[in-house]
Amino acid sequence: MKMAFDVSRRFLMAGGLATASLAGCATTAAETQGAFPATATPDPYLLGPKEGVALLSRNENPYGPSKAALKMVEYAANKGAYYTSPEAIQMLAQLIADKNGVTPEQVVLTTGSGEVLSAIAMIYGKTGPIVAPRLFWDTTALYAVNQGVGSIDRVPLAADMSVDLAAIEAKVTSETGIVQLCNPNNPTGMVSDAATLKSAVKRMAAKTTVLVDEAYMELADDPEGNTCIGLIDEGHDVIVTRTFSKIFGMAGLRMGYSISSAETAEKIRGVVMSWSPCTSYAAAIGAYQDEAFIAYSKQKIVEAREMVNMTIDTLGLERLPSQTNFVYFKSGKEANDIQKAMAAKLISVRGQYMDYNEWTRVSMGKIEDVERFCKALPEVVGA
Ligand SMILES: Cc1ncc(COP(=O)(O)O)c(C=O)c1O
Repeated sequence: MKMAFDVSRRFLMAGGLATASLAGCATTAAETQGAFPATATPDPYLLGPKEGVALLSRNENPYGPSKAALKMVEYAANKGAYYTSPEAIQMLAQLIADKNGVTPEQVVLTTGSGEVLSAIAMIYGKTGPIVAPRLFWDTTALYAVNQGVGSIDRVPLAADMSVDLAAIEAKVTSETGIVQLCNPNNPTGMVSDAATLKSAVKRMAAKTTVLVDEAYMELADDPEGNTCIGLIDEGHDVIVTRTFSKIFGMAGLRMGYSISSAETAEKIRGVVMSWSPCTSYAAAIGAYQDEAFIAYSKQKIVEAREMVNMTIDTLGLERLPSQTNFVYFKSGKEANDIQKAMAAKLISVRGQYMDYNEWTRVSMGKIEDVERFCKALPEVVGA
């Protein structure tokens, strides 16, 4: 841990120096080439939400990126002429490995966790169906299926909309390609009971590989107690994925990773398609150790979630117990109509998932944006 911190600090200091000395050169080059006249001002809303829009549909963290990440991005952008150095890749893998008690060989770094999840779906989809809960973040499993690789065997949720681990386990055979779980789950926001999950995962992993997508785990009440990372070094056939898109507030900067056995990691590396930008590596190195930013983000997200929960409860609507930066609730109205009515008020929420037509997912955002959602909800649901 100490070594990783020292190396990272050196990297940051180098960044500071490089930034200072290159700032002037960039302007001069642009002016000389005439490509971007010095007077050109980009549309401030070219990226991020348009003016006046409360973007509460994508589970982002609008408080990010942290200052430490931004400092690193500036440094990295100035080095953008060069492919990312192996040292930077190694440094990030080492930081992640140190924090999780694994080795860097067990960490696969990709362009958001979507990429590593897609690679996993392509590898294991070939060997049999992807067994998963009926509602989960299925984009990457569908990526494989859409290419004719594998199929998704969706297992109905339990009556309380939690993941039905017993029913999933009952489906698993040695013919199963992979079991894919999402904990906390998206779009429900629910965390599986840790002891029940871990024992089910161990039994299933004796028959097939088990993937646990932990994109939102840092937001859970007890990340250490709930993560399945510990099962990997106990020798179970488990892959865990994480992302910098959620609590780290780096959805647009793109960095994610898997942790597995070194052997599985090697297999995944062979299928990953792209190379992440140097800015992604640098930002992640800056963000990963920024405990103050992580704590601040979590506090703001929980504050917003409590406001949303209270509003939904006051209206007497059903909602699920979320440990994430989104809340899934039953409005009693068509989800796509709710989405349209909110959009008319410049508030963006998710539309319908599968046949859950009366359920809406709202993401946490800046407190003032969440306040707008809370004020609009009674009228939109016709209360
Ligand atoms: C559960 C879950 N996993 C993975 C992802 C992929 O995110 P990213 O590719 O930005 O890491 C998302 C995105 O919303 C998600 O909700």
